[in-house]
Amino acid sequence: MENHRSVSRRIILFPLPFQGHISPMLQLANILHTRGFKITIMHTEYNSPNHTNYPHFTFKPIKDGFSEIADKVHGTPDPTYFLKYLNKSCVDPFRECLAKLLAEPGEERVACVITDAGFYFAQTVADELKLPRIALRTGSIGCTLAYDALPFYSKEACFKLTKQDSDYEASVPEYPLLKFKDIVKITTNPQGMETILTNMLNQMKASSGIIWNTFKELEESALETISQDLRVPSFTLGPFHKYFPASSSSLIEQDRTILSWLDKQLPNSVVYVSFGSATCITKSEFQELAHGLANISLPFLWVVRPGMVVGAEWLESLPEEFLERVADRGRIVKWSPQPEVLAHPATGCFWTHNGWNSTLESICEGVPMICSPCFVDQPINARYVSDVWKIGMLLEDGFKRLGIEKVIKQVMKDKEGEEMRDRIGYLKEKVNLSIVEGGSSCRSLNNLVSYILSF
Ligand code: UDX
Repeated sequence: MENHRSVSRRIILFPLPFQGHISPMLQLANILHTRGFKITIMHTEYNSPNHTNYPHFTFKPIKDGFSEIADKVHGTPDPTYFLKYLNKSCVDPFRECLAKLLAEPGEERVACVITDAGFYFAQTVADELKLPRIALRTGSIGCTLAYDALPFYSKEACFKLTKQDSDYEASVPEYPLLKFKDIVKITTNPQGMETILTNMLNQMKASSGIIWNTFKELEESALETISQDLRVPSFTLGPFHKYFPASSSSLIEQDRTILSWLDKQLPNSVVYVSFGSATCITKSEFQELAHGLANISLPFLWVVRPGMVVGAEWLESLPEEFLERVADRGRIVKWSPQPEVLAHPATGCFWTHNGWNSTLESICEGVPMICSPCFVDQPINARYVSDVWKIGMLLEDGFKRLGIEKVIKQVMKDKEGEEMRDRIGYLKEKVNLSIVEGGSSCRSLNNLVSYILSF
């Protein structure tokens, strides 16, 4: 079959250096490798992927100067600052490295470069070097549509509303799925966000195509709308992590000892809590969360990343006697093998920040969610989860122990939780069908491979 034939073409991939972006790019690289492409990963020195996990790839690190500023950030970072910085500091090293790779004598021709959509500067460089660029958008299509519609610049005051403002609970006219209380979480820097998003969307439109880590059945109408808007080919071949059994793209060591603890728990009994690689919470939020977990009578597995609690190294702020109270009912780890935890039969719900990877991973395993979004795309993903797909419940008013106990009970024990489990179970089946021969993601992958071979 044409798409499976051995091809001697090289693809260069360039991820943004953050966990939620590196993982899908490396997964995509693996997928394209199985279709016969040679793979070169160009990457920043900051958050370098572990080369030894990918002996079948060639790696080209470039200088980014990012470590010095990233290491000074405490608390939840401002992504607009990071993105702006990287889109400047990487231009020359990226151009130099790409030009060298193109000039290298070798058996296989470079077909294209795939960069994270957030590296919008790369389009101009690719154009200069006459190399097709495809953008990988690691977030959802719905989120990209919302970003495009929201009045970041023109109505900056909307992003500063507080609970006391009458509009706080109202829908945003430009994107009625969202409430003003959602969009205030997206960014503290609306002007900076507008600049980044305009650049990103313009350079997606100027690219040769967009790859999305999503599947058609989940976002069909959003896909139709975005395709009309962007007017370049879109490929929905996700969820990428489902193509391979275990992922090795974690930047932090995963604590696998908890899998044997999970083995001892009853089916659908464990509350899994994790807020991804970047979210930070205050000491009082952390303590309310701990009280909420201590007060429920269910087993829980809680990921507390070192540095996640502002002003603490790790667990110093736990309430007194918390560990004695929960004993073997609860486990706290620094980082988990999340896809495996979600796939474990004992896991009953996922209390998440709704990063897109976490959201997709939960859908893939049919695990209903409790949503505590923090920033950027997370409040948008959370609305889709709770109000569109109805596969999770938003913890609307932040971390308060009574609210936490109530929402866990609703998802784990009540009828509405059962209905969510049915709906997400149905999506899980759709995912499984999408990635096998004839399924929508598999067809989209075939189209992508043919498209790249046509360059
Ligand atoms: C960031 C943004 O915060 C997110 O909103 C955006 O969609 C992508 O970039 P992050 O916060 O890390 O990502 O969240 P997410 O997208 O969910 O990615 C986290 C990844 O880390 C997931 O693939 C998850 O499986 C993995 N993970 C998380 C672990 O392997 N172990 C853990 O304990 C927690």
